[in-house]
Amino acid sequence: MPKRHRHTYKNSLSFLSCGMISVEEVRKQIPLLSEIVYADNAATTLKPKPVLDAMADYMQKCGANVERGSYRLAQQATDLWDGSRKSIAKILLNCRPEEMIFTKSTTEAINIAAASLERPLLDRISGKFSYDAPLVKWQRGDSVVSTVIEHHSNIMPWMRLCAKTGARFVMASPSKEGLLLPEHFEGVVDQQTRVVALQHASNCVGSVHNLKEIIKTIRVLNSKAIICVDGSQAVGHMPVNVKELGCDFYAFSGHKGPLGPQGTGGLYVKSDLLSHMEPLLVGGGAIADVTERDYKLRSDSLSKRFDAGTPNVAGMIGLGKAAEYVGEIGLKEIEERERSLAKSFIDQISGVKGVSIYGPNDMRDRCGVVSFNIEGWRCQDVSLTLDEKWKILTRAGHHCCLPAMRFFGLWDSFGGNVRASFAYYNTEEEVAKITQAIKKIAGG
Ligand SMILES: Cc1ncc(COP(=O)(O)O)c(C=O)c1O
Repeated sequence: MPKRHRHTYKNSLSFLSCGMISVEEVRKQIPLLSEIVYADNAATTLKPKPVLDAMADYMQKCGANVERGSYRLAQQATDLWDGSRKSIAKILLNCRPEEMIFTKSTTEAINIAAASLERPLLDRISGKFSYDAPLVKWQRGDSVVSTVIEHHSNIMPWMRLCAKTGARFVMASPSKEGLLLPEHFEGVVDQQTRVVALQHASNCVGSVHNLKEIIKTIRVLNSKAIICVDGSQAVGHMPVNVKELGCDFYAFSGHKGPLGPQGTGGLYVKSDLLSHMEPLLVGGGAIADVTERDYKLRSDSLSKRFDAGTPNVAGMIGLGKAAEYVGEIGLKEIEERERSLAKSFIDQISGVKGVSIYGPNDMRDRCGVVSFNIEGWRCQDVSLTLDEKWKILTRAGHHCCLPAMRFFGLWDSFGGNVRASFAYYNTEEEVAKITQAIKKIAGG
């Protein structure tokens, strides 16, 4: 059985001063929180003022494009941009900036990873414009493994890769409560497995998988399989150490846990893969040289090979600030607070007649995402009523996890589930408001 992480649950008020930035302070920096009960943080989080200020400052006081500028404002823009990548890589993933590609989302990050396994790197290599050895030499019978509980973004790019390479697409199933365990990969991952794509935490039932133990098991089953993690619901919600996990790719969104802007995200790539990886885009910014016959991609910072074209400078400066912001609160504090709010919510609604709650029973296997249904109600109608009557914002539906919804038997009966997802800035008072509203709906 996987080793479990231990957590202590604290009284909600004690958190008001536990981080370097208190809950009260964060809430003041997001004025919208005084008007609504925002519990849709798994879709996107609201952004605190310092993040918005960092972006506005760049736009208003600098505004220059990054890289290759000789005037001082251009240098300043490049410094801000480089500084952001450093903060994001270190605080959110514990990797070096050269190992993290900037992307617009988790979805883009996974697509970049999958595309790089389809075709070899083309570059001037040893003086000749030629193809490098492919990252995967696809052979008859090879497979790509994903899991039933994945978001569509960690399924579809791999299905497409299989269709293009002729590989088999295979899915591992989680436990009935939505937890992936090491043994779920036994009998699925074998010597012909080339890629394993799995998530760190689930956006549809709130499970947090013991990734370190799962990856260890996958490595025993096949030491050469490339492991790609979807960290969309983990990064910024808990400490993530890609080195300790031992994965090859780790994709994340900047606009969820890290409190950064939409249109930002990243992809950690293990160095030995990165130097042989074909960028999805080539063009300005990604090169060391271009002649009339060939090009040489830049090697000074491998992750910058993936920056062809003018990037989302303001967005990444915002995400850099956001990474520093959640780092200042403390990622452990964020993880514990979000889990504590989830626990309190589950405790309060679990006795309510007609309410079913999904996900692991053991709080140690959960994050701040709590999904549920109410007997006799389509999930979308519950979410709509919560908003219309009480300004409580939740999300309902399949959450881009149709295979999972079918696996749990929730698609035909409820149209998916209702999801309340908590962030550091949510409060016990809000949990109580949501509970009261659910009791009223369930009571008819
Ligand atoms: C687990 C998971 N993976 C992937 C995604 C896609 O993230 P993005 O929309 O930033 O590409 C999401 C978004 O909700 C998610 O929850």
